[in-house]
Amino acid sequence: AAPVRYEAEAATISQGAVESNHAGYSGTGFVNFQAVTGSYVEFTVDSAQAANARLDFRYANGTTASRPMDITVNGTSVADDLAFPGTGAWTSWKNVSADAVLKAGSNRIRALTANGDGPNLDQLTV
Ligand code: GCU
Repeated sequence: AAPVRYEAEAATISQGAVESNHAGYSGTGFVNFQAVTGSYVEFTVDSAQAANARLDFRYANGTTASRPMDITVNGTSVADDLAFPGTGAWTSWKNVSADAVLKAGSNRIRALTANGDGPNLDQLTV
């Protein structure tokens, strides 16, 4: 199926704020996580059938340190401490990917901060 984009600002957000003060995001903004391990964005992704999928997370990290995230699908880990390296500037957006298996129907794809603060998260493409 053709890739579908899901905006972080339209997802379910726990301990994060929708902001738009750094250019280059898609949609109407991005999510700035609180500096709290376990803060998250959860996307709802419908799949016509059970399928392997690549999860592409678009983000910015204006620091020089990785801001790792844990990725779960329907409550099961698919990537632990996935690196979100520095992108050079808060206005420089890049992708990191994780592979997952989706079930038929509705899937909950959650990105949680793994070590304090997270990157600024713009969107998920599946
Ligand atoms: C800066 C930046 C924010 C970012 C934050 C961070 O304050 O403007 O967009 O989220 O750093 O370190 O997480």
